[in-house]
Amino acid sequence: MTDNLLIADLRREYTLAGLRRADLDQDAIKQFQKWFQQALAGKLTEPNAMTLATANKEGFPSARIVLLKGVDERGFTFFTNYESRKGRELTENPNASLVLYWPEMERQVNIAGTVTRVSREESALYFNSRPKGSRLAAWVSAQSEVIENRAALEEKLTSLSSQHAGEEVPLPPFWGGYCLNPSRIEFWQGRPNRLHDRFRYLRQADGQWTIDRLAP
Ligand SMILES: Cc1cc2nc3c(=O)[nH]c(=O)nc-3n(C[C@H](O)[C@H](O)[C@H](O)COP(=O)(O)O)c2cc1C
Repeated sequence: MTDNLLIADLRREYTLAGLRRADLDQDAIKQFQKWFQQALAGKLTEPNAMTLATANKEGFPSARIVLLKGVDERGFTFFTNYESRKGRELTENPNASLVLYWPEMERQVNIAGTVTRVSREESALYFNSRPKGSRLAAWVSAQSEVIENRAALEEKLTSLSSQHAGEEVPLPPFWGGYCLNPSRIEFWQGRPNRLHDRFRYLRQADGQWTIDRLAP
């Protein structure tokens, strides 16, 4: 049985750093790039792992981890199967949210916006950079569908590998990237006594960002 008392006792004080308005870049994407560089320099485990929250047209939510594969002035790019549950939800409802948590840095970043598919060229460029096993697996896995067993999956992979021996694996039509164009980005730095620092950037119609400090 789970001991709820033990869970309730799990607690950590955040003491590493503070975040002040003077530390912030006026541009939210540049601020994210700065924090991401610091996460890379800190050699964190999978600093690009992020929770992606989507919702269907009724507004019922679902969330899962995906890997951030690019960030520039357009937004945050990740790759997936367009026919997966997340893909179907993003077709119905392009509003989505991302959360990154870097425990070693006591930092969280929270992002919200709308997604669009990236071009086929950009998806192909990334797809072709993946190891051959991953490229074949993208063809084999009808992501988020019910399957009979693992053996069926492995048999499909083996037979596809022999079919494509010595050949390039093309980009599946149902696979590619999404770019989340942010309208809101929040930077969170843990502080002692739960008085954390939070700054929220909101994108204005002219593309500029307003920055507000939020209560923790
Ligand atoms: C660390 C980590 C990284 C992952 N990266 C991806 C990814 O980049 N793209 C992806 O489609 N799934 C990725 N997954 C798997 C997803 O979390 C999820 O199981 C899958 O995409 C199906 O989600 P869905 O049924 O909600 O569409 C990753 C999982 C983990 C734990």
